[in-house]
Amino acid sequence: MFPQVLAAIDGLFSCHGNFTGEEIPEKELDIILESAVRAATASGQQSYSVIVLDDKGVMKELTGYAGSRALVFCADGSRLNGAARRLGFGTGEKAGMESFVTWSIDTLLAAQNACLAARALGIDSLFTNGINRMGLDKAWRLLKLPQKDCFPLITLILGYATEKPERKRGRLTGAGVVHRGQYQLQDQKALDRMIADYDDEGLNLGMNRTFEAKGDAHYLEWFFRDWLGGFPDNTDNALTDRLKRSGFMN
Ligand SMILES: Cc1cc2nc3c(=O)[nH]c(=O)nc-3n(C[C@H](O)[C@H](O)[C@H](O)COP(=O)(O)O)c2cc1C
Repeated sequence: MFPQVLAAIDGLFSCHGNFTGEEIPEKELDIILESAVRAATASGQQSYSVIVLDDKGVMKELTGYAGSRALVFCADGSRLNGAARRLGFGTGEKAGMESFVTWSIDTLLAAQNACLAARALGIDSLFTNGINRMGLDKAWRLLKLPQKDCFPLITLILGYATEKPERKRGRLTGAGVVHRGQYQLQDQKALDRMIADYDDEGLNLGMNRTFEAKGDAHYLEWFFRDWLGGFPDNTDNALTDRLKRSGFMN
């Protein structure tokens, strides 16, 4: 039994950029990276690469955030495909949607292991997809990523938070999230309950209470109109374009 693991999971929270200048000891970074690669991996392929950044300027330019270190987790079949070519197997495993999904699963399991190991060591973290917002081309330029078979999925910023959130962010649990035996479609009543749950300050599910000041009846009204509506339209195009150039999409 490892009750400490459950305590670490329970202690997870995101530090939204307010990291102190304190540096993570190199030894602890090694433990985090070793923990990352212990995650399950399809066919033992470890179809990912982790780029460790210690340059705060690069972190900021790349993601909009900076901590002591940033780990850029890339879905990556290029390493193994290099071995395939070396052994005379042509291009190796073809990149495509199937490999993108499988390699991404490998990558995200490793990333969450890293986050959890950091928590166990008392190191705070933030997962961010800021790379998508800051411009994917920049990632290829700054990180010298392989043009094919590689995609930066998520960045984990590591460091020490100046302060912890007063309250942990809540989560939906139970029916609607967990389905026993078969998928249960949510009826109107269940959807209304969920909308009300997001409004419930006690549950702390939403990102903020802006909707109240805006005069919205529901948090999810603010979420769909102001939050999701506030993202530029072209990020989806840029992502699709990069997935095509990396060989994952036609
Ligand atoms: C894919 C992904 C991207 C995220 N990107 C950001 C981000 O760019 N900025 C940020 O402040 N938080 C980001 N987060 C953190 C979420 O906002 C956070 O996990 C959520 O609000 C729940 O809070 P908690 O992690 O403290 O429980 C991201 C989380 C995930 C999983």
